[in-house]
Amino acid sequence: MISLDLHRSDPFVASHLKDGLGPRVKAAHQAVVQSSGAGAEWLGWRRILDQPNDALLEELTRQGQEIRERADVLLCIGIGGSYLGAEAVIKALRPYFSPTKSESASEPAASPSAAPSMFDPAPAATSPVEVLFAGHHLSGRYLEQLLTYLDGKSVYVNMISKSGTTLEPGIAFRVVRQWMEARFEDCDRRIIATTDASRGALRSLANQKGYRTHVIPDDVGGRFSVLTPVGLLPIAAAGLDIRGLFYGAVSMMSQIDQDDHHPVFSYAERRYALHESGFTTDVLAVFEPGLHGLGGWWQQLFGESEGKERKGLFPATCLFSTDLHSLGQYLQDGRRNVTETFLTLRDDRGSLEVPSSAGDDEGQGADGLAFVAGKTFSEVTRAALLGTMEAHAQGGVPVHHLEIERLDENALGGLIYFFEHAVAVGGYLLGINPFDQPGVEAYKKAMYAQLGRDT
Ligand code: PA5
Repeated sequence: MISLDLHRSDPFVASHLKDGLGPRVKAAHQAVVQSSGAGAEWLGWRRILDQPNDALLEELTRQGQEIRERADVLLCIGIGGSYLGAEAVIKALRPYFSPTKSESASEPAASPSAAPSMFDPAPAATSPVEVLFAGHHLSGRYLEQLLTYLDGKSVYVNMISKSGTTLEPGIAFRVVRQWMEARFEDCDRRIIATTDASRGALRSLANQKGYRTHVIPDDVGGRFSVLTPVGLLPIAAAGLDIRGLFYGAVSMMSQIDQDDHHPVFSYAERRYALHESGFTTDVLAVFEPGLHGLGGWWQQLFGESEGKERKGLFPATCLFSTDLHSLGQYLQDGRRNVTETFLTLRDDRGSLEVPSSAGDDEGQGADGLAFVAGKTFSEVTRAALLGTMEAHAQGGVPVHHLEIERLDENALGGLIYFFEHAVAVGGYLLGINPFDQPGVEAYKKAMYAQLGRDT
């Protein structure tokens, strides 16, 4: 269940936009459902949910298990839509702290030179594999230190690139491939490529080397690809339930398609109304640190989908209360062009209590915090949430409160689809194609010119 409270942003919507947007929202939704809007050839993120491929989910689950059994580290190489979704889900659902496999005494690491067969029966090991990322920036320093860290560990690599030609993951993969070839006899079995079915340099290389591969469907763009093998293989390797995640999205899509009053429509409508009322920046604020990665995924989804033709809200993500001690000042008192959505969990499982301390009975306690003794961290967080929403709204920020039941695969899958549908509807309200990203090409062209590539 997703709930959305918009009452704190009502006063900020220009009066001519308060009523009358309903039919336009409905038309935008129909354009998505009936594949009749701009970029309709990119609606594969709905098609895959409409026709679930259970065999693929099983295959990815099995491969994830193989990686868990045989690897200490899965290194995912990709950028943008080719890593943000996996990182978001893994950060949200894996425990904050868990011993790496190589630290776990009970689970000896696979020998780096062993050549595992994919046909070996899979023991039911669930040891935590460390999922690391590379190729998502250009830092050579990071890559060097990463390889030093990986030395002596059993490593699998998932190279993820739809085009197969993106510079950042491409050059990282050159380095990692050489490193893998020098260390593992069975290197080609340890590298799994996720890419286009037939095109691109990565597809050719995978065919040449005999890497195992997964296909990114033609009709699914990078930022909508978390529920394809792009996201699902790393998430499965992290030991998470990809079926629960996937079917959470399936269920959200069917709820939205059957309910004209679903909160997704109010969310898309209100963001559009605030855009048209002069707001320029939209903050997604979370209190649970594990959700911060989802904010990164949401930034790409909304930024690349809406930011064109000089339109769109600039998406930014905040982790509260951490960022209340930095960006909080701006949010409270800076330029009044910012809107805010607080994304919270109804059940955050924060049952840890603030303990009593000496002196509490005689006043405020030695640290002045007797008033919170006995409250759970969950209760303290709820107070911070309510207080912050109230303060920011009074300071002139249109505030929305979006809440999901709890943090698990099913709920997160539902939330992922909620945002995907919202951005599609929102893009059509803005009158743009939400599924292309022509602006991303401009920096690439200029960078390649600097690097001397012939075009
Ligand atoms: O959303 C997008 O399409 C982009 O962010 C891509 O995901 C990103 O540029 C990576 O592209 P590729 O998977 O082709 O390497």
